This record gives sequence, C-alpha cells and structure tokens, in this order.
Amino acid sequence: MITRASETDEYIQTLDANRTVILTDHNVEQLVLPKFAALSPFRRICIAAGEASKCQETVNTILHQMHQLGMDRNSILIGLGGGVVTDLAGYCASIYMRGIKVIHIPTSLLAMVDAAIGGKTGINTAWGKNMVGTFHQPEAVLYKPEVLNTLPERHLKCGFVEAWKTFVMCKPNEWRELTFPLSEAQIADVAQTKLKLVEEDFREQNKRAWLNFGHTIGHAFEHLYHQSHHLLHGEAIAWGMLAEMYLFDANQDLLLFWENWVVNNIPKLPYTPLDKERILHLMQADKKSKDGTLHFALPYESGSAVVPQNVESVSSSLDRMWKKHLSKA
Ligand SMILES: NC(=O)c1ccc[n+]([C@@H]2O[C@H](COP(=O)([O-])OP(=O)(O)OC[C@H]3O[C@@H](n4cnc5c(N)ncnc54)[C@H](O)[C@@H]3O)[C@@H](O)[C@H]2O)c1
Repeated sequence: MITRASETDEYIQTLDANRTVILTDHNVEQLVLPKFAALSPFRRICIAAGEASKCQETVNTILHQMHQLGMDRNSILIGLGGGVVTDLAGYCASIYMRGIKVIHIPTSLLAMVDAAIGGKTGINTAWGKNMVGTFHQPEAVLYKPEVLNTLPERHLKCGFVEAWKTFVMCKPNEWRELTFPLSEAQIADVAQTKLKLVEEDFREQNKRAWLNFGHTIGHAFEHLYHQSHHLLHGEAIAWGMLAEMYLFDANQDLLLFWENWVVNNIPKLPYTPLDKERILHLMQADKKSKDGTLHFALPYESGSAVVPQNVESVSSSLDRMWKKHLSKA
C-alpha cells in the first residue's frame, strides 16, 4: 500500500515509539531525518551510505543492533533512505525472528518510484548483484516528495531511469510524456503503476518480470564497475537498457530517445571488449538465467515480453554498443 504523501506524518504518529526502530544511512540521517518531525521519538540504526553497505556484514551488524535495542516479534522496522536502505530494511525485517513488519519511507527518487515498492529485498554477494534476498511486503510506503530537494542530480537521473523503464514496459503509449525532472504527479503515477503490476504478480512468475528490462546486462555492468568506477545502479541499468535494445528490432523512436538521453545524461560506461567474457559469465549466473539460458524483458511494439536470447546475440549487441558509443575517447 502506498500512503498519499499528505498522509505521511499522520501515519507516523499512529506508530508506537517503543516498538518502532528506524534504519537509515548517515547522509539521510543528516539531511532528511530532520524534515520528519514525527520520527524524532524513534530510536535508530545508522549505516554507511552507498551500495557497498548492501552486504552480509552490514546485515549482521543491523540484526545485532535490532537485538540490542530489544526488538521483538511485535516490533516494526522503518527503512528511511534510498534503495540500499529499503532493500536492507526489508531483508533484515524478513529474517529477524522469522519476520517482523517493515515500513518504507523512500527518500531517493529511485526508491520512491521503484525500490521501496513491491517487497523485493536483497543483498549483493561476491558472485553477483542481489543474489540473496526475500519477498517481504512492506506494511506501508510513505513518502514526502519535497525531501528530493537535497538529492544530488546524478541520483535524480538514476530514479528517472527506473521510472522510464516502468512506463516503457507498462504504459507504452505514455513514455513520451515522462521527461526529466519528474513532477510530483508523475512520481505518484509511476509508483502506482509498479504497485498495480506487483499486485497482479507478487512472486514474479509472469508480468512483474517485465520490470527487469535493462537489468540482465545492467546488473553485470553494476557488479563489475560499481566499486572500481563508482557506477551507480540507475546508471548501470540505463546502459543495460540501451544494450538490450540492440538485441531486437526495437521501435526506432524509443531507441533514438533512449540513446540520446543516456549519452547526454549518464556517465560513459567504462566498458572495453576485454570485459566482455566476464559480463557474459555474470549474466549466466544471474537469477534471470534459466537452465543456463539468458532471459530478457524487452519492450516489443506488440507488447512487453520475456524472451530467451543466446550468448552470441548478447555478445554482438555489446559489440555494437561499443562501436557506436563507448570506443570513442
Ligand atoms: N527492491 C527492489 O525492487 C529494487 C528496485 C530497484 C532498485 N533496487 C536497489 O536500489 C538500490 C539503489 O537505490 P538508490 O539509487 O536509492 O541508492 P542509495 O540508497 O545508495 O541512495 C543514493 C544516495 O542518495 C543519498 N540520499 C538518499 N535520499 C537522499 C535525499 N533525500 N537527500 C540527499 N541524499 C539522499 C543516499 O545516502 C545515497 O548516498 C540498488 O541497490 C538497487 O539494487 C531495488
């Protein structure tokens, strides 16, 4: 359930401060928490900001602190932050004492339109992105669009990438209306669109898998470059969607729009053909690979679909992207 932004403070006031603990990161604690006066009575657990925190070590620290704070099966964990915090809050809540309630208060655009909605939780491992996780629906997703005032533009663009993906896959006649920066009404629209899909297919057996557009190749880019080149999740997905559009006969309007947007708004991918084998290997180990076959969610003109593709096609789409966009200095 997504509570309207106007109801966020009212909802927080109904929570019992003795039973509720906030999980947040240091940036959000400093820049955003003071904007939620209603959260001031709650105790909190604070982690380092950024993707590197989405790991088993941080999970161990959080679970230990949850125990030290006396949380029991009736306690509630609030994830206040971007997608890293909401993924971790959801995961820790889902495994602590076999599962307690979680509420998300997304503070990045990407978390408002995507990560906080739908109950997918997870952490990264040495062998891949989001390889350990659970499905655990939040009790509520609360938000205040005005907190985006402090979010750096680079992160706002990451949120736009996931929003655009949702519209392309679910509202193919409306993606042209979605331009950067998004209005508050558009943020609510994208969030509701994702929620509707999740309600139809919570466990991703069918249509929910459409939202993986760009993620089969994108997750491999992210795994390879996030530490070495500080590539952000949304940036990896932006290039992943472009590479995946080269896999099939994509609508030319769509391809040209995306090519142009990515080249003008997203840092260049540090890819070289020497990385290709590792990327193909990472994709084969991905959750979306079935019996060793790669699967891709693609926006066909006849409607979105998840289709198998062989490794050779993926290899040649990476070559085409290299020739067109990445080889030039
Ligand atoms: N569970 C899902 O369905 C799902 C979907 C999409 C993405 N994700 C995950 O989400 C993560 C990416 O999320 P993200 O892009 O929000 O990254 P993030 O959580 O790292 O947040 C981005 C940065 O912005 C800071 N920040 C957040 N809100 C702020 C604000 N209002 N003002 C100033 N700074 C602020 C954070 O401290 C962080 O440094 C990835 O790990 C990805 O896998 C999950």
